[in-house]
Amino acid sequence: MKLYTNQASPFARKCRVVAHELSLKLDEIEVLARDDEALRRFNPLKKIPILILDDGSALFDSAVIAEYLNHIGGGKFFPGMNIWRGTNGRWKALGLQALADGLMEAAVACRYELLNAEAQRNEDFIARYMTTVTAALDTLERVKFTEVPTIGEIASGCALGYLDFRYDHLGWRNGRPRLAAWFETFSQFPSMLATKPA
Ligand code: BEZ
Repeated sequence: MKLYTNQASPFARKCRVVAHELSLKLDEIEVLARDDEALRRFNPLKKIPILILDDGSALFDSAVIAEYLNHIGGGKFFPGMNIWRGTNGRWKALGLQALADGLMEAAVACRYELLNAEAQRNEDFIARYMTTVTAALDTLERVKFTEVPTIGEIASGCALGYLDFRYDHLGWRNGRPRLAAWFETFSQFPSMLATKPA
């Protein structure tokens, strides 16, 4: 399986963490997500990550790829696919993944806006993206993370890792001691260390 990816992408990292946890081998192809028009051959939305299966078909987006990898690797990151956690755990995990993905989306969009020359930058967009990031972080501070991680914990970890990578100056830990303590432990998982952006 080939994964079109970018070291910095928190969405791709989510899939790479799942693959690492399940010892699935991915042939990673590093692309510049923003510029590579050739990606549309596989994903008309021109977004990474994209997983190319052995029969040549393409899977996107990150939530679909992560669930596919979990399925073929016999993982337990999507509760409700097994009898142990019941269906409640499934909606909690998927809801948490949606929240963390939304945080990533706003943070990545804001990063692209900030890369524009000052004259082209839209300060209203930036303010709106950052309001979303702050609101998502405040909600994550109140989340009761499960000890055995689900896709919700993995997505949250990747979102926070992206903030550390691109928004170090934001100081997201300030006023969010529970979230900071959780991430302190989670970020040391071997799969998180192995996928940390350089
Ligand atoms: C980044 O450089 O921040 C980035 C690159 C690819 C996808 C998302 C973010």
